[in-house]
Amino acid sequence: MNKQKGRNTLRTMAGIVGLAFGVLVPFGAVQAAEKIKVGLMLPYTGTFAALGTAITNGFKQYVAEQGGNLAGREVEYFVVDDESDPAKATENANKLVKRDQVDVLVGTVHSGVALGMAKVARDNKTLMIIPNAGADDLTGPLCAPNVFRTSFTNWQPGFAMGKVAAERGHKTAVTLTWKYAAGEEAVNGFTGGFEAGGGKVLKQLTLPFPGVEFQALLTEIASLKPEAVYVFFAGGGAVKFVKDYDAAGLKASIPLYSSGFLTDGTLAAMGGSGEGLLTALHYADGLDNAKDKSFRDSYSTTYKMQPDVYAVQGYDAAQLLKAGLDAVKDGKLEQGAMIKAMAAATVDSPRGAFTLSKAHNPVQDIYLRKAEGQENKVVSIAAPKLADPARGCRM
Ligand code: PHB
Repeated sequence: MNKQKGRNTLRTMAGIVGLAFGVLVPFGAVQAAEKIKVGLMLPYTGTFAALGTAITNGFKQYVAEQGGNLAGREVEYFVVDDESDPAKATENANKLVKRDQVDVLVGTVHSGVALGMAKVARDNKTLMIIPNAGADDLTGPLCAPNVFRTSFTNWQPGFAMGKVAAERGHKTAVTLTWKYAAGEEAVNGFTGGFEAGGGKVLKQLTLPFPGVEFQALLTEIASLKPEAVYVFFAGGGAVKFVKDYDAAGLKASIPLYSSGFLTDGTLAAMGGSGEGLLTALHYADGLDNAKDKSFRDSYSTTYKMQPDVYAVQGYDAAQLLKAGLDAVKDGKLEQGAMIKAMAAATVDSPRGAFTLSKAHNPVQDIYLRKAEGQENKVVSIAAPKLADPARGCRM
């Protein structure tokens, strides 16, 4: 409030000073809509660096398509590299909220970091849009009116993959992931879908984030002899895992399934090791919709590479913010009106249009995809209009 009052006083003074010096200051121009201050808190170094960059690219692409602004407002960016380090999450989020006084926090990739960020957003009543991190709790027990997500819960693709693995006739599986919220929740989702379809998870294996020492774990998988393996890995760690699984000779003997992060944006770096992998995700290559086509054409022209799911989630974060800003056109950034419009928005996403659940998480189709060359080609819809159960969310 005080910040706003200060700005208006400055504007009035600028008008008076202008008149005193005989300069014509058009009052209409002085009254132009306030700019929007966007805090991007994302990983730009470490195992998830490429993911943070893709989200940023996607966000800025949508702003560029709108003529370089959102709902007529100038967009000013404040950027922090969160290094995917949960220990620094509060301090980094505070830099954006308290020092830079951003109007909206956009971030992040890592679930543990996002949980810390969301606490800062809740405590300071700052609008927050999560363009990746899937921590179930963010739109579960920790849900809040000012916290939105344009990505997924870790449960969503995990559950869909478990359902498909059971439908494919597998009776036993072993899971492997980094030991942190995202991996454990993805595995829980898989286990739920797989066991509901008659399968049994024999063992849930983990290693610390962002470790890539897989050899002993691969030996254990080989000795457990499951009919299927489910993993959650992403970014650089995903590349190393898939190469090691192949080199250990397991790819030929035990089918490997995953949430689609394993193969999104990583197939080129895997060489041929990712070929043929089946994964479940809310985005795929070869979706037959006009929005995706124009999104991909313009992304590849601007950034000289193909977009992935992270670019889509960043693009949709900007679309959701625009829906909020449309509700306060030319006026103050009244958060209540923005929240109402964002909660009711239909986002015209390249993944297919989606709406948000009461907990502010996308209700969306989860696709089954097959890795072919550098693409994750859509095979079918594994789980149509899948909503996270949002257990524990009260609002
Ligand atoms: C997460 O930590 O929630 C996370 C990280 C990378 C992914 C997906 C989810 O690709």
